[in-house]
Amino acid sequence: MNLLKVAICGGGRTGHLNAILFKQLPHVQVSMLTRNRSIIEQHALQVPMQALLPDGSTVQARLDRVSTDARAAVEDADIVIITVPAHARAQTLKDIAPHLTTSKPVYIGAIPGFCGFDWLAEATLPDRPNLVIWGMKDVPHTAFELTPGRSIKMGGGKSRLYVATHAREPQSAQRQLEKILTRLYGPCVTMLDDYLEITLTPGNPIMHSSVIYGLIGPYGQWHRKIFAQPLCWWSECPELGAYFLERMDQESQGLCAAISQRMGINLSSVKSLKQEIVEAYGEQIRDPSSMLSILRTNQAYNNILAPMVPAPGNRAGYVIERQSRAFNEDVAYGLVLLVEMARRLDFKVPYMEEVLNWSIGYMQGLGDCALDYFPHQWPRPATAAA
Ligand SMILES: NC(=O)c1ccc[n+]([C@@H]2O[C@H](COP(=O)([O-])OP(=O)(O)OC[C@H]3O[C@@H](n4cnc5c(N)ncnc54)[C@H](OP(=O)(O)O)[C@@H]3O)[C@@H](O)[C@H]2O)c1
Repeated sequence: MNLLKVAICGGGRTGHLNAILFKQLPHVQVSMLTRNRSIIEQHALQVPMQALLPDGSTVQARLDRVSTDARAAVEDADIVIITVPAHARAQTLKDIAPHLTTSKPVYIGAIPGFCGFDWLAEATLPDRPNLVIWGMKDVPHTAFELTPGRSIKMGGGKSRLYVATHAREPQSAQRQLEKILTRLYGPCVTMLDDYLEITLTPGNPIMHSSVIYGLIGPYGQWHRKIFAQPLCWWSECPELGAYFLERMDQESQGLCAAISQRMGINLSSVKSLKQEIVEAYGEQIRDPSSMLSILRTNQAYNNILAPMVPAPGNRAGYVIERQSRAFNEDVAYGLVLLVEMARRLDFKVPYMEEVLNWSIGYMQGLGDCALDYFPHQWPRPATAAA
């Protein structure tokens, strides 16, 4: 069996868990690109990384290379996996671009691949025909309680892992990628026909923004108020947030149908959020009758805190954090993209627009966002636009 060289960019929860699991496989070399000095120190001290599995057992690994230097981490990689959040991907791609080899195919992908990673990679890595761009719809397992360089806990895993390549990639490259990912993750890897099936799958961009809007938006019961204590995202989800989420879920499905019709592609694999959650969590949801009850009674969602920081000005209590990933990842790179796609098709998404506009105000303006790389010619393919 030939040696497979994997480079993982980002030493967070997802990066650690995947790196440790890959090192359990024969003939797989794993390097990690991180900015975190404590991971480098632990590696230099030869401390193994440990993953605690859901059944209570543990697996250990010592990575082949851990570095803050992009060249050292990626220069000979066969496959590069970006695990940094969507708002940090552009910088990561710029950092590694000069060091990716040109002498063999390099499969460069994001886990998760949402927020239009295919477009970002195309825009950031132009004129690199040996790069094969791909994304995975979701993380293979949830990962939590990270001690950098030392340990990570593995949560529930997905029974199937859906992967898509950039529309430009030939079938031969897709087949080769499928082989590599099957070697890394097993036979649960399923290739999708179109990257839009990842981009349009509803998830955090509508979930987090709608719940925050329902809590502290202009009609929320906590509008301009301070929370006495931290609040759980889902078990304490406000009715108004669930209402907006249900509406945005419907708009998202409508947008999918409009894109499918306009572009002549089959997006029937993209399910509604409600259906995704019910299918993913099944019995763990005590009452699946409405969006509100699904969110409030899903045991897997218990105790997940909304992003809060202490209230400013030494006041007692908490406010929703403006710099949280719910805004700088999910709004700026997720919701923005959905609303812009709808605008290009002249498809009305008034609930998404309302939540987006309010969110941008709460964020005190939109800085870098998905519009920096969303192709100007979309929905026409680049060749037709030339
Ligand atoms: N953890 C999960 O169970 C889970 C579940 C669903 C989805 N996701 C998604 O998976 C992606 C990674 O999530 P994660 O939980 O692994 O995140 P995480 O633990 O916070 O790790 C992300 C890593 O990215 C690197 N990074 C580089 N630039 C960054 C920046 N500007 N801000 C924050 N991090 C930056 C950091 O690693 P270095 O310090 O090493 O550079 C950081 O540790 C996100 O898109 C998230 O939404 C995760």
